[in-house]
Amino acid sequence: MDKLVVKGPTRLKGNVIISGAKNAAVAIIPATILINGKCVLENVPNISDVKISCDILKDLGAKVEWLGEHELSIDTSSIISSNAPLDKTSKFRASYYLIGSLLGRKLSATVGLPGGCNLGARPIDQHAKAFEALGAKVDISQGKITAKAKKLIGNSIYMDVVSVGATINAMLASVLAEGTTVIENVAKEPHIVDVANFLNTMGADIRGAGTDVIKINGVKQLHGNASYSIVPDQIEAGTFMLSAVASRGDITIKNCITKHLESITAKIIEMGANVETDGGDTIRIWCNKRPLKANIKTAPYPGFPTDMQPQMGVVFSIADGTSIINESIWESRFQYTAELNKMGAKITPQGKTAVFEGVKSLSGSPVYSSDLRAGAALIIAGIIANGETEIYNIHHIDRGYENIEEKFRKLGAKIQRVSE
Ligand code: EPZ
Repeated sequence: MDKLVVKGPTRLKGNVIISGAKNAAVAIIPATILINGKCVLENVPNISDVKISCDILKDLGAKVEWLGEHELSIDTSSIISSNAPLDKTSKFRASYYLIGSLLGRKLSATVGLPGGCNLGARPIDQHAKAFEALGAKVDISQGKITAKAKKLIGNSIYMDVVSVGATINAMLASVLAEGTTVIENVAKEPHIVDVANFLNTMGADIRGAGTDVIKINGVKQLHGNASYSIVPDQIEAGTFMLSAVASRGDITIKNCITKHLESITAKIIEMGANVETDGGDTIRIWCNKRPLKANIKTAPYPGFPTDMQPQMGVVFSIADGTSIINESIWESRFQYTAELNKMGAKITPQGKTAVFEGVKSLSGSPVYSSDLRAGAALIIAGIIANGETEIYNIHHIDRGYENIEEKFRKLGAKIQRVSE
């Protein structure tokens, strides 16, 4: 097992280039199943969730080949199986996209119950509801989900909760369905739009992604034989933005979409840090003083992302005054606060709220990453803390951040990966 050893404090300075979005890549890779042909994906992040997605496609019979560090060729014409390997699918959350994709292409899917970050209950009732509305029978038992249909017919689907995964899965299952599907109360995250753009590039007819209602006119087949470049990672960009604020540094973030970062940018300005953007793909964040207190409530896009909540928690832990976070998406996303408290923070979590009494500085400590974004937050905490921080359970971080320690090292952080 590897651990990260961080020696602080460091004021981060320099440029960082953002990778392709994890949450788009892990949906687009299974979506290639619908093509029944070949396509090339560019700007693919080199992270473990992508690697396992590729392995599963290979197990199903696809030909998957890396053409370069971030370029992936996928040929799904030889897919023969609709049974995804249960041991692999249970390792990460996004394996649920195999259900929509296999159901759409082969009218049958058997996939192990998805794993992924432990953030509390993660039901999939809205996914099942969408598949059933299209005519599938869904069974969830013995650790797996089976969906089968004689044929899929477009329908109206109203999501009871705004769900990223259910929105994408409903799109995947309806692209090749007969007739028109209208999905209401959908999620609007950048990765939803990216999946729709990918499918449209391959011949689908999806309209309205990025708004509350998505309309899909079913097509007979997708054509493939095209390339698609995955959108930059909103959360990775946000993670580096907040590392600049926490460390009182000066970071220029390149290859991001600044429009996707507005909720984070607004909070950074409220906390007294500086933001300069070209309104396109570059944003500079710098901070010369202790950040001011603020409050956040997480919400679906365009609200403040839950996946940025732990990183903001680090900033709040050293901010001037008392800040409050209200987590409205996940019931158990404050596990990192116990680790920050080991480092001298004064955080009181209570249910879905946590109160951060800002302290002047943190001090190094051994800490445990409970999930992906908690791990990223602990790296930032280690960078700003006095002394040495050892971060354990970093496989969570590797699931979603490409070369994170290298990127932080280039900004001046003293961070090493150590194999034990
Ligand atoms: C996606 O998870 C992301 N994962 C998560 O990112 C992210 O935290 C989350 O969206 C919210 O933005 C991937 O994209 C792979 P949801 P997902 O369905 O799709 C409830 C990270 O760190 N719900 O939008 O699983 C659910 O309980 C990860 O990168 C139902 O009730 O999230 C939650 O309260 C962690 N029934 C809310 O909806 C359902 O059928 C939003 O969940 C589905 C969801």
